[in-house]
Amino acid sequence: MRTTTTLAAAALATGAAAQNYLGFNTGSTLADRSAKFKADFLAEFNTAQNLVGAPGTFNAVRLYTNIQAYSTDDPIEAFEAAIETNTSILLGVWASGTDNIDNEISALQKAVTKYGKDFTDLVIGVSVGSEDLYRNSVTGVANGAGIGTQPDVLLGFINDFKKAVVGTALASIPVGHVDTWDVWPNATNKAVLDAVDWVGVDEYPYYESGKNNTIENAPALFDRAYDTTVSVVGGKPVWVTETGWPTTGPNWDLGVPSVANAKYYWDNVGCRKLFGKTPTFWYNLRDSNPDNTMKFAITNQLSTKPYFDLTCPTTFDYNPSSTASSSASSTGTTTPSSSSSTATTLVSTASTASPSGSGSRTSSAVTASSTALFVSLL
Ligand SMILES: *[C@@H]1O[C@H](CO)[C@@H](O)[C@H](O)[C@H]1NC(C)=O
Ligand SMILES: *[C@@H]1O[C@H](CO)[C@@H](O)[C@H](O)[C@H]1NC(C)=O
Ligand SMILES: *[C@@H]1O[C@H](CO)[C@@H](O)[C@H](O)[C@H]1NC(C)=O
Repeated sequence: MRTTTTLAAAALATGAAAQNYLGFNTGSTLADRSAKFKADFLAEFNTAQNLVGAPGTFNAVRLYTNIQAYSTDDPIEAFEAAIETNTSILLGVWASGTDNIDNEISALQKAVTKYGKDFTDLVIGVSVGSEDLYRNSVTGVANGAGIGTQPDVLLGFINDFKKAVVGTALASIPVGHVDTWDVWPNATNKAVLDAVDWVGVDEYPYYESGKNNTIENAPALFDRAYDTTVSVVGGKPVWVTETGWPTTGPNWDLGVPSVANAKYYWDNVGCRKLFGKTPTFWYNLRDSNPDNTMKFAITNQLSTKPYFDLTCPTTFDYNPSSTASSSASSTGTTTPSSSSSTATTLVSTASTASPSGSGSRTSSAVTASSTALFVSLL
């Protein structure tokens, strides 16, 4: 009996992660800050599914908000575009710069009523918030990263969301929170960790100044942050909700944007570690944060022919079991307490370097967003 119950619980807990979704992130606005409408989302989803050479079908999407830009609480038109293209949806609830998520919930309820099962069958989960605890942290504040959220407030929003979907077709979707990797070992955030079904992590080795953030070392930096996250979340599924390497823009310490480096990162992080192995939302198909001078899009103007060959190699330049990266694999066994002690040195930077766009209609809370980026590892 006990075994059966345990297995059932395990199946429930891991069911959401059992499918290794492939997708991109998409905000509610374009690079000129105007609203995205259905046609914009349709163009993105069609390109994503038809990328030449892709190592799988990019038929999932991560949103930052349920709310259509220019409206108070209308459902984002990405939902209709997703229905027409059979795109799986990781919902986002914008949770900073507000004392309630009523409009987010209202927009979602309208969508459930309007589209029914066509919509709800596509929903694979929800993130309540995006990097709110990073922006709220000492470093986020020092970096002018924008308005964040205290963990107790975020916890309230998570509970509000769960209550709102009781008795609806979305009642059993896994509820998570997306944040930068260093947020998860921080004991002050533990109530949020305890409240979620899955953990979303954003990782950008490119921004890790002072940590040998060369492209050659990026896979090792990625693995150390990822392994640290996995080691502190108590077995909860970890989804990689943002990662990528810019093709253009200024150098960031030893991090150099280029198409060749974006290809190296795709191969040695995406292909080696993520695609088909864990739910992954790459950053990004299209740039939409005008404040960020680094451009992360893997293709020009939604062309299905990307800047570089997306085909995955069969062998990788980075090979953790045989090289200097032995330190990377050893961090997999790091205990929560030791990792939290090593995880908190942060490198300051300007807020404009953050790549994430966001979904909020309140652009001040949005454009200043993000980032994992400035987090150093040791
Ligand atoms: C929609 O996509 C899912 C995989 O995400 C697939 O199993 C299903 O068959 C597709 N449905 C249609 C109508 O193509
Ligand atoms: C740890 O988390 C708390 C609550 O989110 C935050 O106030 C604090 O700044 C974080 N600590 C560090 C070192 O970032
Ligand atoms: C940076 O990392 C690369 C790849 O692991 C390595 O070859 C190089 O020696 C490192 N440089 C420094 C200064 O540690």
